[in-house]
Amino acid sequence: MRNVLLYLSRQAGLRRWMETARAARPLSARFIAGMALEDALRVAGEVNRQSMSVSLDHLGENVTSLEEATACEAVYLRALTEIHRLGLNANVSLKLTQFGMDLSEEACRANVLRVARLAQELKSFVRIDMEGSEYTARTLRMVKDVHAETGSCGVVIQSYLKRSVADVEQMNARGIRVRLCKGAYLEAAAVAYQAKADVDLNFLVLARRLLSEGNYPGIATHDERMVEGTLDFVRDQKIAPERFEFQMLYGIRRDLQKRLVAEGWRVRVYVPFGEAWYPYFMRRLAERPANVLFIAKTLLKG
Ligand code: FDA
Repeated sequence: MRNVLLYLSRQAGLRRWMETARAARPLSARFIAGMALEDALRVAGEVNRQSMSVSLDHLGENVTSLEEATACEAVYLRALTEIHRLGLNANVSLKLTQFGMDLSEEACRANVLRVARLAQELKSFVRIDMEGSEYTARTLRMVKDVHAETGSCGVVIQSYLKRSVADVEQMNARGIRVRLCKGAYLEAAAVAYQAKADVDLNFLVLARRLLSEGNYPGIATHDERMVEGTLDFVRDQKIAPERFEFQMLYGIRRDLQKRLVAEGWRVRVYVPFGEAWYPYFMRRLAERPANVLFIAKTLLKG
């Protein structure tokens, strides 16, 4: 089921239909703050009031023209400006293929640099999300450059990738902030662990490396066993709660988010918004195929 849903997440025709069909709109509300930046800012305020920070993500990936990439950059510049104006406890997350990586690495770098420079000026932060493994090396290269120039950007490392231990070491050595997650794309056995047990084991190995040697890591998971494994290590090593944060996706495991906050741990919620919601939505279904039932219910209600 996971593989079928991930395959469907990359089908352009289905994507066009889903993103434009009125009947499909209610589906997006389960995981997405809304279509406009204003929706995301409103949700960010609500999340802040529950003592959690936010990372805003303008949805979109694999743009097909540099004009689209520039339009996307403009949304991020506006998002950083509004976050600052409203005094929200929030930063932004972006994808390089949304900034033109497939079209021109040079143009993509210039677009990302403008966003990272504004983040630096406003004392904010830009997280570069990690996409499929064909982008891993290029993404890390870009992050190293942008970090060296601005000090205001960090990256994501996926525990399903076999290369990730080496990548974490490199990021730690440079003081680059890492968000650790399991990984959400369909990957071949040559590059990625296929068994959940291996992905989970590597997650805990990487989390420990980041917590002891990294710069303010984000431990991004809804898996209670990963959360408990992290907390066991944190307590054992007497790592202060201010040295790391948990991160979770908007709309997923709100109970766990609240519980961690009540226990005194930091939690950041990743809040996506925008019209291009289909691939993100399908990856969320793939993570928990039981969510497919909720689709059926929503469509029947509509
Ligand atoms: P796992 O998938 O093992 O799920 C554990 C439990 O969590 C499930 O049993 C269920 O209870 C709950 N759960 C998980 N997903 C759910 C869902 N969709 N709906 C309902 N319940 C769910 N990936 C990537 O490749 N690049 C990236 O840049 C990012 N960025 C990112 C940011 C943040 C803040 C988070 C939390 C995650 C990402 N991811 C990501 C996604 C990540 O790689 C992974 O696919 C999901 O987090 C699911 O993995 P879990 O660690 O939650 O565990």
